[in-house]
Parts: sequence; structure tokens; C-alpha cells
Amino acid sequence: MNNEKRSGFTGKIGFVLAAAGSAVGLGNIWRFPYLAAKYGGGIFLLVYILLAVTFGFTLMIAEIALGRKTGLSAIGAFKSLNKKYSFLGYLAALIPAIILPYYSVIGGWVTKYLYEFIAGGAGETAKDAFFGGFISQTGEPVMWFMIFLGVTALIVLCGVEKGIEKVSKFMMPVLVVLSMFIAIYSVCMPGAMAGVKYYIMPDFSKFSATTVLAAMGQLFYSMSLAMGIMITYGSYMKKEVSLESSVTQIELFDTGIAFLAGLMIIPAVFVFSGGTPEALGKGPSLMFVTLPKVFESMAGGTYIGILFFLLVLLAALTSSISLMETVVSILCDKLKIGRKLSCLIVFLISVALGLLSSLGYGIWAEVKIIGLQFLDFFDFISNSVLMPIVAFFTCIFVGYVIKPKAIADEVELSGKFKRKALFTFVIKYLAPVCIVLILVSSVLDAFGIFKI
Ligand code: PHE
Repeated sequence: MNNEKRSGFTGKIGFVLAAAGSAVGLGNIWRFPYLAAKYGGGIFLLVYILLAVTFGFTLMIAEIALGRKTGLSAIGAFKSLNKKYSFLGYLAALIPAIILPYYSVIGGWVTKYLYEFIAGGAGETAKDAFFGGFISQTGEPVMWFMIFLGVTALIVLCGVEKGIEKVSKFMMPVLVVLSMFIAIYSVCMPGAMAGVKYYIMPDFSKFSATTVLAAMGQLFYSMSLAMGIMITYGSYMKKEVSLESSVTQIELFDTGIAFLAGLMIIPAVFVFSGGTPEALGKGPSLMFVTLPKVFESMAGGTYIGILFFLLVLLAALTSSISLMETVVSILCDKLKIGRKLSCLIVFLISVALGLLSSLGYGIWAEVKIIGLQFLDFFDFISNSVLMPIVAFFTCIFVGYVIKPKAIADEVELSGKFKRKALFTFVIKYLAPVCIVLILVSSVLDAFGIFKI
């Protein structure tokens, strides 16, 4: 397949931490808690966990095995197994290329907040107009965006083993410790128990089809599925490392941090707002508008705020690294160019696209595509349209073209495949049907026809 020697992860820990680094990101710490609060707390959590161990497990194992089997990143992997499906590789490759620029814009906002908290500006960030005022400027948000993207590029430039693996081995344990500390602090605040109860105890009367759809959409995003990332990381994985147990560990990591993020945020906001979940349901403004106010009202809030934004920054960085690595690795494979040149090209394209997203909140606020600002448009196209399409065809590809056995054989190279029957059933029948439902509902939702 690939004549050049491919660099790779040195062992299981390196692989698991890097893949978990990709999975754990803004989605876990920012999006998960507000979705959980919006869709009924405990019941959402329960549905999410059930989906993670069936649906998430199946898709993740399929992708990593595809990468390891072929030793290639997304485009090459699909093509080498069946020429007719090369289109799927191209589609998958497009997704991280679209996400990386706007993800870095948000990463830049997080960096700015961390800076403000450290520099003594925490009180400023708690003011109503701060966030809107900041993102609508021209120079500052662009500067923070470039810093975030630049750091990402530097790490990717150092390569899989010396860059990604090293950084993940350091950042992921720090991230776990920070998450636990902040979650414990938050749960111990007087009055926090009402929030904890709301978050943990499932209320079955709140269950509906939309709970499942929302949880499933979140799962995809959170586990970095259907965008070639896990295929690329799988291609760097050694054959003797156990695939099944690696996937279990990545899932545990991802779901564990999302759970802890809920524990940090939901009780704290409950206390702050006098026991109502409404303040949580506001969506994106939760992290940048509500939380700074919560920190301001808390004892020692500035310090907790510093730790919190540091945590978010680490999570966002390890995810953006995986986005960039996926695109860089595809360019290297496809154009037969070196890592340096490939990094430079990806960096420049991302700067251009990121500028659109950043300035879309300021001087270009008037420009809209299908009624959306640039950032929202890129988010919609990648997450709500392309990802379900790629996921659907991946299931068809594995379930009916190369057949589940091809994946099972790859998994069995490194031990018994314990959940083979579950995998086969989900990839052939359950997943394709569910994915079509997600696609239809998210498109209808975007056009305001059906709100989830
Ligand atoms: N999984 C990451 C998160 O939860 C987001 C992400 C999406 C990362 C796509 C890489 C690619 O935030």
C-alpha cells in the first residue's frame, strides 16, 4: 500500500490518549451540558450512554479498523478497498477541512477568556455586553484565532509520535485531574444538590424521540466520527494493539469527561440561578456569557475560572490537532508532499476560511448564506449534512460492500472480538436507519420546519 514508512503511535496508551484527545473537546464541555439540561437531564444522560455503547462503539470500531487495515487515511482507505467508494473518502476529508477553521475561531475565544481570567479581567467578562463586544471586533478575535491555529499547526508539524502523542500524553491526564477537581468543587457548593439530582436522576416522562435524536447527533460530534479522523488515527495504530479494548477506553474517556462537565456546570448554574434549568438552555452563550457570571458569584471563582478555561483550552487543542492532522495526512498521501509543506497549505487555507467565520460576527455580519452567518453555516454543512451522509455510506460500505467480516477479521488480529454480533447488527440495520432520521430531522430543524 504505502511504500514510505508511515510514522505511528508507539503503543496503546499513546493511541488511546490521542484518539481520546480528539474526541474530548468543546463538544463535551460546552455542548453536552446544555443539551443534557435542555432535554431533561438524567434521561438524556441515560439515552446517551446507551447509544455510546452500541451505536458509537460500532462506528468507531469500523473506522479505526478501516484505517488500520489499509494503513491509509480516509481517501486512500475507501479507494483501496473499493474504487467506486472513493467519493466517500473525499466527502469525509472535506469535513475536518471545514470544521478546523471555525473550531479554531472558537478556540481563539477560549484562549482570550483564559487570558482575561489570568490577567485579572474576570469581572469584565461577566458583564452582559462583553462577549458580543469582543467577537464583533476585527483585530482581536482574529489575533486569538491565529494564535490558537498557529499552536495547533506547530504541534502537527512535529509529527505523530513527537508531536501529537507527546502532547496528548501530557495534556489528557491534566485534563482529567482538572475535570475532577472542578466537578467536586461545584457539587460541594451549598444548594448544588438540586442540580445534581436534576442531572443524574432520569425522569422518564421527559423521554421522547427528540431526546434520542439530540443524543445521537451529539454522539457523532463528540466521538469525532464520520469525518475520517478515526480512520487516520487507526492507520497509525500497531497491529498488535487491541482494537476493541482501545475503543472501549476512548469511549469511557469521552463519556466520562462529558459527564464530569455536566457535573461542573449544571449544579453551579442551578445555584447561581436559584434552582432553575432555564439558564442552561440558552445554548452557545452558556460558556461565554453565563459561566463568567457564575464564576463571579462563586467563592474563589476567578481561580476556578482559570482552571476551567485552561481545561477547555486543552480539550479544544487536542481536538483541533486531530482535525488538522487528518487534513495534513490526506494531503501528504494524495499529493505525495512532505509534512511541512502540507502543514503550511492547511494553515493558510484555514486562516482564510477562519477569517470569514471570525469577521462574520463583526464587519461582515450582514453577509448570510441560507440565512446563516459563516460560522453557523460551516457548522451546519459539516455537522448536520455531511457527517450523517458520510456515516450512512460508511455503514453501507462496511455492512454490504466489504462486509462486517472484513472489519471483524481486522479486530481479531489483536484478540477476540467480544461484541461482534452487536457490531454486525448495528452496522447493517440499526445505524443506517437512525442516521437517516438524524439527517432528515437536522435539515428540517435548520429550516425551522421541525424544531428539536
Ligand atoms: N469531538 C470533538 C468535541 O467533542 C469535536 C471535534 C469534532 C473534534 C470534529 C474533531 C473533529 O468537541
